Amino acid sequence: MIDVTTPSLYLDGIPHRRFAELRETSGLVWHPYEDDGFWAVARHADVKAVSTAPEIFSSGVGHTNLWDLDADALEARRSIIDTDAPDHTRLRRLVSKVFTPRSIRRWEPLTRKIAAELLDEFVARGEGDWVELVAAPLPIRVILSILGVPVDDADFLVELSNHLVEGTSDRVSLPDDAYGNTTPLHLLPFGSPASHALYTYGEELGAQRRTGPRDDLVSALVQAEDEGDRLSHDEYRNLFHVLVFAGNETTRTALSHGAMALADHPDQWQRVLADHDLVDPAVEEVLRWATPVLHMRRTATCDTELAGTAIAAGDKVVMWYAGANRDPDAFAEPMRFDVGRADNPHVSFGGGGPHFCLGAFLARMEIAVVLDEMRRRGLRLERRGEPVRAPSNFVHGILSLDLGARTSGAP
Ligand code: HEM
Repeated sequence: MIDVTTPSLYLDGIPHRRFAELRETSGLVWHPYEDDGFWAVARHADVKAVSTAPEIFSSGVGHTNLWDLDADALEARRSIIDTDAPDHTRLRRLVSKVFTPRSIRRWEPLTRKIAAELLDEFVARGEGDWVELVAAPLPIRVILSILGVPVDDADFLVELSNHLVEGTSDRVSLPDDAYGNTTPLHLLPFGSPASHALYTYGEELGAQRRTGPRDDLVSALVQAEDEGDRLSHDEYRNLFHVLVFAGNETTRTALSHGAMALADHPDQWQRVLADHDLVDPAVEEVLRWATPVLHMRRTATCDTELAGTAIAAGDKVVMWYAGANRDPDAFAEPMRFDVGRADNPHVSFGGGGPHFCLGAFLARMEIAVVLDEMRRRGLRLERRGEPVRAPSNFVHGILSLDLGARTSGAP
């Protein structure tokens, strides 16, 4: 068996050798997991095939994570990410206009201001934990601004988000009744009482915006909820939860791996410093390199076949973006970090299809702004030690990363 699920495997980074073995084995490999198992999909072409056939590979059956959920748990937690059409189409339409490239451009000045503040502070200190000082605060402040959450609550929501990541690992620090939780844990996303706290927070903010609407996403969503058939109470609550988590944790991970890669490959950063046109390709390479979300699952709705392997209706199929993003059939020299990579069809936002990451333009804009502001300062990052990684097979998280800062002024 080629194990890729034991969380501690990820304490040293993605186990690339194991994913190469999965890719190189003909057909798909059956991976035992708990009492059942799943088909492990690690080749780039296969990830794309699964992602773009939602009628065969469902997001709404079972769960999008490795384990199955009981029907009551799935219903309680169901959000945009584990819904099929037509509900998925309706939910996606409600939020998609806020995340188009045009809408996202509105948030660039704010993102730049936040990035400038955080980077100036980092440079002034000369060194520190990049995750705590830059990578974590930036995305949460931006998504909270889009949602309309007061900035003063950002630290509390980062704390909740950290606990949710713990829920994907074998390290759990919260008692079941933390934050006043009384809901059975199996009904909560990530099995974490932090989800109860995030639900409660979203409900209270929704109630405030219902009586005093503002120009923000929560006001737009509660308005849709009030229109009855457009968004139910649970759909609002679960959407709020997924937006806070997805808009925060993933981009933080990309910014952390990006900084580490640039510190480890000073020649590549020198290229970006020397040529502004390399910022956008560097963003894509950071995303490929980081692969912040390691996998997503689908469930076969009918008997089918993929890569010559028969898949039975009801089988779980897990797309390992971590494997697909290093597939030599899709990327020249996949183990090389190359900020000028011309052809970079990474699947960090998913392999296409209806669930392709809603926040892709936002995440790209945030990473580009950070690289650009680093360029403006002629900021060079240096490693001060090994990162502390999250023991998670779902989020390729970095908990802390000590870096040093040197500046040489604007390029
Ligand atoms: C580097 C940052 C990010 C990465 C790597 C990432 C990755 C992903 C992946 C892999 C999926 C699942 C795709 C699939 O199942 O086919 C996804 C879905 C999603 N992402 Fe992101 N994401 C990022 C940032 C964001 C941000 C900033 C938001 C903020 C709104 C966001 C919101 C969502 C939502 C709502 C979905 C579900 C979409 C659907 O099911 O229709 N993501 N993301």
